[in-house]
Amino acid sequence: MKVAVIGAGAVGVSVCQFLLDNGACDTLVLVDLNQEKAQGEILDFGHTTSLNFTRNVKMVAGGYADCQGAGIVIITAGAQIKQGQQRDELAQINVEITLQIARELEKVAPEAILVLATNPVDLVSRFIIANTGYTAQRVISAGCLLDTARFMKIVADHVELDPKNVQGYVLGEHGATSFIPWSLCSIGGLSFDDYCDMVGKPRLARKALLQSVKQAGFEIFNRKGNTNHGIAASVYRIVQAILFDEGSILPVGAYLEGQFGIEDCVLSVPCLVNRQGIATRLPYPLTSHELAQLHGSARHLKALTEQVRK
Ligand code: 2OP
Repeated sequence: MKVAVIGAGAVGVSVCQFLLDNGACDTLVLVDLNQEKAQGEILDFGHTTSLNFTRNVKMVAGGYADCQGAGIVIITAGAQIKQGQQRDELAQINVEITLQIARELEKVAPEAILVLATNPVDLVSRFIIANTGYTAQRVISAGCLLDTARFMKIVADHVELDPKNVQGYVLGEHGATSFIPWSLCSIGGLSFDDYCDMVGKPRLARKALLQSVKQAGFEIFNRKGNTNHGIAASVYRIVQAILFDEGSILPVGAYLEGQFGIEDCVLSVPCLVNRQGIATRLPYPLTSHELAQLHGSARHLKALTEQVRK
């Protein structure tokens, strides 16, 4: 399969690294306004297949024409937040940038599945669905998959486990209104409190835990000026579920058309992801408090949607 990455910044390059290290595609196309940068990255990547025995993937630094027939296109391009900024402040500029990208892609890869990383990621995903022919099934916001990874890591470090033993999600908006549906969380099948009691660890303070998850991106940004490894791993996890037709449940940003009583909004809910993209937005039985928080995210994003000039 041909996979294209739009944007050769830190996130886009990290995504390419994941794709190449896993030999995930037959052809990799990297597109950036700065064609020299894209060309430099591809030339550099080209020297990695000789020695470390990864697949000799066909790699192209090109334009939209080179995305012809791509099965998956990962969009990472857009303005980046500056120190002290919130993701929402990028809404106008990045809706414009990603819509322009999606309209170019529609000419050459109308059947592609789009995976969005550009922030505010849920909002830009919603505008692509609302303004192009790409369907809700084939536009996936990385959404709270990254927040979920952070949540799993924080909990696992507290109880000294591999994060893969932590089950649960962060849902809603990839941003300030995200929430943890505690009814869906466990450690090795036990509730957080029961597991902590069993191993003699202090119980986790839920409010502080959620705050740590929300702050995690900024803790990194304040130190290195961006984030890329976690978001790239999250994007690759989605691509893997598509490429290998997994049928995995992932908390990704999906366009809701009445699910959970929400319309015309992209929010992270548990989704079944396979070769079709978002095959199902699973109707999880959230508690009334969890549903209220999901609606809180929806209200925030709808208000942000209204602020974006068409
Ligand atoms: C993050 O939280 C970039 O929004 C992304 O790291």
